[in-house]
Amino acid sequence: MSPLPRRLDDLSLVEASVWSNLAEAAQDRTHPWRLAVLATTDGAVADARTVVIREVDVPARRLVVYTDARSPKVAQIEAHPLGTMVVYSDPLGWQLRLSVKLGIETTGLAVWSRWAKLKMTPAAHDFLSPLPPGSPLDRPTPERGSREHFAVVTAEVLAVDWVELHAEGHRRARFDDEGARWLAP
Ligand SMILES: Cc1cc2nc3c(=O)[nH]c(=O)nc-3n(C[C@H](O)[C@H](O)[C@H](O)COP(=O)(O)O)c2cc1C
Repeated sequence: MSPLPRRLDDLSLVEASVWSNLAEAAQDRTHPWRLAVLATTDGAVADARTVVIREVDVPARRLVVYTDARSPKVAQIEAHPLGTMVVYSDPLGWQLRLSVKLGIETTGLAVWSRWAKLKMTPAAHDFLSPLPPGSPLDRPTPERGSREHFAVVTAEVLAVDWVELHAEGHRRARFDDEGARWLAP
C-alpha cells in the first residue's frame, strides 16, 4: 500500500492516490482493496458479494473481475449494467464507493488469454464446477468438472465517492465527469 506522508489537501492528489492504490490492489494480494463488494440488482432486489479485483486500467478508469459465467450476478449485470463496488482500507481509513457500468465477456481473445493463464493456477477450479453457483447440493463440496465457465466482468468507473475516516475530522469527496469536489461526510 502506498504510504501517505501527510493528509492530502488537494483533490487531484486524493484522486491520484485513489487510483494508484487501486492499481496496487490488483497486483498485491495483501492490499485491503484487493477484495471488493460488488453490488448489483435484478431490477427489484439488491444483491452483493465479495469479488477479487484482478486488473485495474488507470487511464481507462476500468476494473476487471473474474467470475463463473453461470453465476446469478451475470444475468443481473446483463439486464441491469449499473452497479456499485465498495472497498475499505483500515490502514488508509479510506472507503471507496465506485459507481460502475458493468459488462460481461464470455468469448473472444480477452477471455481466452486470461483463461490460458488462470487455468495453470489453483483458482481455475472456481470455474470448473459442473453445477452453476448457487445450485443445491446433497453434500458439502461438488464434484470437479472439466469444462470451464469462465467470464470476465468489466467495470467502467463512472464516479468515485471517497470517504476518509480521521481523528481530526472525517472528509468526503466525489470524482466524476463533473469534476472533483468536497462533500459533507
Ligand atoms: C474472499 C472472496 C473472494 C471472492 N472472489 C470472487 C470473485 O472474484 N469472483 C466471483 O465471481 N466470486 C467470488 N467470490 C464468491 C462470491 O462472493 C459469490 O459467493 C459467488 O460469486 C456467487 O455470487 P452470485 O450468486 O451473486 O453470482 C468470492 C468470495 C469470497 C469470500
